[in-house]
Amino acid sequence: MLNVALPKGRLGEKVYAMFEKAGFECPSIRENNRKLIFENPEKQVRYFWVKPSDVAIYVERGAADIGIAGKDILLEYQPEVYELLDLGLGKCRMAVAAPVGFYDDGERTLRVATKFPHIAANHYARIGREIDIIKLNGSIELAPILGLSNVIVDIVETGTTLQENNLAVVENIVPISARLIANKAAFHFNHIQIEEILDALKKQVDSND
Ligand code: PRP
Repeated sequence: MLNVALPKGRLGEKVYAMFEKAGFECPSIRENNRKLIFENPEKQVRYFWVKPSDVAIYVERGAADIGIAGKDILLEYQPEVYELLDLGLGKCRMAVAAPVGFYDDGERTLRVATKFPHIAANHYARIGREIDIIKLNGSIELAPILGLSNVIVDIVETGTTLQENNLAVVENIVPISARLIANKAAFHFNHIQIEEILDALKKQVDSND
């Protein structure tokens, strides 16, 4: 049985639809209930719904053989997994944002609020800017408004959250999208089944280009 960690939510539903189209359906998953695990013994596949930011941990530790994680999580936590495919879903970007009109004169340590301290630290290390990281868990946009930070490093999708809070992108750091990842040992043991899924998903991604 191949264990697949799907990110709970709209992205996960789109990803499951791709697996279904690839021939690895599991009809019970469409029933609207609060179950978290679904399997189709005939197709030798078992799906489970995981909090999106936890998928990489399940895969790294081998509780899931494969899974779908955002590039943001992969960059932040650097899990020991194989990144097999960019699914082209959940597209957004990691960016630095600040109140409209903000200018960094470079004189004082820059206070950066973020859910992604590793990505933020790397970004500013690359450009040699001294920073003080303020790790938050959500509603990051509030930090510069209330003077908790000067800027934020956060995910921007439509830009609506920034706009509605009078913030603007200062610079883009990296594009983000959903990636198919595999546990390293499982990839070698189950490579026939994983390759079959990978090929079928690749065809769908290519046909969407
Ligand atoms: C993410 C991100 C931004 C927002 C960006 O937040 O942290 O706040 O989405 O989307 P937009 O550009 O389309 O407005 P999320 O909904 O994950 O919530 P949280 O970070 O506040 O927990």
